[in-house]
Amino acid sequence: MQNIILSDLIRKHPLATTFLNEHHIDYCCGGDHLLYSAIEEQGLDKESFLLELEQYLHEMEERINPVIREELYEMSIEELIDHLEDTHHQIERMLLSSIDEKLYTILSVHYTHHKDELVDVFSLFEDLRKELLIHFVQEEKEVFPLMKREATQATLMKVEALEADHEGAGILIKQLQKRTNDFTVPSDGCPTYRATYDLMKKLVEDIFLHIYTENAILFPKFEQGAML
Ligand SMILES: [Fe+2]
Ligand SMILES: [Fe+2]
Repeated sequence: MQNIILSDLIRKHPLATTFLNEHHIDYCCGGDHLLYSAIEEQGLDKESFLLELEQYLHEMEERINPVIREELYEMSIEELIDHLEDTHHQIERMLLSSIDEKLYTILSVHYTHHKDELVDVFSLFEDLRKELLIHFVQEEKEVFPLMKREATQATLMKVEALEADHEGAGILIKQLQKRTNDFTVPSDGCPTYRATYDLMKKLVEDIFLHIYTENAILFPKFEQGAML
């Protein structure tokens, strides 16, 4: 595989996102980094990484529909916004609410043996939940309607503020991944513990695709219009 920038890799192979997530390679905020440098930055062996990545893509692309589909790049601003609201915003609201409930349950049940981890995880998750829920409302009620209507400099500044929110969410996610040892359940963890961490992992994967679609497809398309 050639040394291309991460956002081009994802455009060409949408399923690479899951593989990159597993290896903690940030294609979201680091989308403009070159693949080889990103591998080296993570201290991974380049040859075996590329071999595994190619095998993974070959297997997955044969059986799964791409998650960042090629047609997203062809959509208009209106279509992209409708797509984001109908998919990622809905799915993530559902996941946030489900995790919130389960996490409080495991905090209560496993407090004695895992209080240090669970208090930190609960607190980080609640910060992320609050940030995202407010962010979704700002997009849906304020910035997205403006983006559909007018490509002005004032709207462009609001779009830049959304990008800054994405970075903030990315930082909280990295802290959550670190504190949970990448959502690893302790050996005495119950099925709810496991389900909560599995759902958090799914949430994080969805958020990365969501932010990528906004940062790398929707916002550049809007910025181009605002510059004209
Ligand atoms: Fe969004
Ligand atoms: Fe957003």
